[in-house]
Amino acid sequence: MKNIYSNIAKVNNSNTSKAIKYLKKNQVIGVPTETVYGLAGNAYSNIAVKKIYSLKKRPKINPLIIHYYNVKSLAKDAILNKNFLKLYKNFCPGPLTFVLKKKKSSKVSRHATAKLDTIAVRFPKNNIIRNILKKIKFPLAIPSANKSTGVSPVQASHVAEEFGRTIKMILNGGNCKIGIESTVVDLSKKIRILRPGFVGISKISKVINFKVLSKNNSSKIKAPGALKKHYSPGIPMKLNQKRGFKNYAFIVFGKDYIKSKNTFNLSKKSNLQEAARNLYKIFRKIKNSKYKKIYVAKIPNKGIGVAINDRLKHAAN
Ligand code: TXA
Ligand code: MG
Repeated sequence: MKNIYSNIAKVNNSNTSKAIKYLKKNQVIGVPTETVYGLAGNAYSNIAVKKIYSLKKRPKINPLIIHYYNVKSLAKDAILNKNFLKLYKNFCPGPLTFVLKKKKSSKVSRHATAKLDTIAVRFPKNNIIRNILKKIKFPLAIPSANKSTGVSPVQASHVAEEFGRTIKMILNGGNCKIGIESTVVDLSKKIRILRPGFVGISKISKVINFKVLSKNNSSKIKAPGALKKHYSPGIPMKLNQKRGFKNYAFIVFGKDYIKSKNTFNLSKKSNLQEAARNLYKIFRKIKNSKYKKIYVAKIPNKGIGVAINDRLKHAAN
């Protein structure tokens, strides 16, 4: 049997050049970012973008995030506004995605933006992907490297689990520093948080003036094409549970839980950032151990906890 992990590549000059060669040929590869691993392809190429949709089995109506090295390279494709420039200055490169008006003259594949007149853009901080973006003359469409509705990968081996050798290579950047997807903020019309993430609503509202609706309210707004069921390990899940059951997986948070075979602690130290880093790893572990049901304890809804609860709600759907 062929080893499915054998297309995981160590990051060095020769493999980086190889990755760039694949991208120039409109091939799709697995890459690390600071949030989650992604499937990267040339955003200007219909061929590469169609490969991404087909590999992920992603509905065509769900647009991709286009990744750039810096604002200079973005100016050709999107209409920049004041709020964008302020947030860019404060948080980029980093785990924040902006929805902007797309320029009519933009070369970004209209399949990548699902034929909308807006475009989602991000400037990732991870050095491996930044180094690649710096060396190529086109932006990259990079959705999370999982099959549609599934769990995002946070290690190179997870990408191999999802796509095996159907992609040319997976660059190994170790564990993702943040572990859940970027915050998505819509600046194209009325300002809205479409997906909570590491950059919290309160941090954003300190930089640009906008009224934050109640936490729940603003996280309820769906990104176009965003599916109700999402981030899901494919096992029935029940949230806000006080105790676990013998044959169910029990996801907990904090020091008040006794260690047992079916208890999975997001963070014994009650650290929400650690919990975010562990969330998808634990989902995958549970999925691979064939549990029939998952119970989840209550997770504090502050800081990155808002994003964790958002992912849990979707996963439980
Ligand atoms: O952290 C991340 O953002 C990761 C890493 C790989 O960069 N990427 C990621 O991509 O999470 P994906 O495709 O899994 O999620 C993209 C989200 C989807 O919910 C999509 O609907 C939304 O962004 N989106 C994309 N274009 C949009 C647009 N024009 N308007 C509103 N939402 C958009
Ligand atoms: Mg995704």
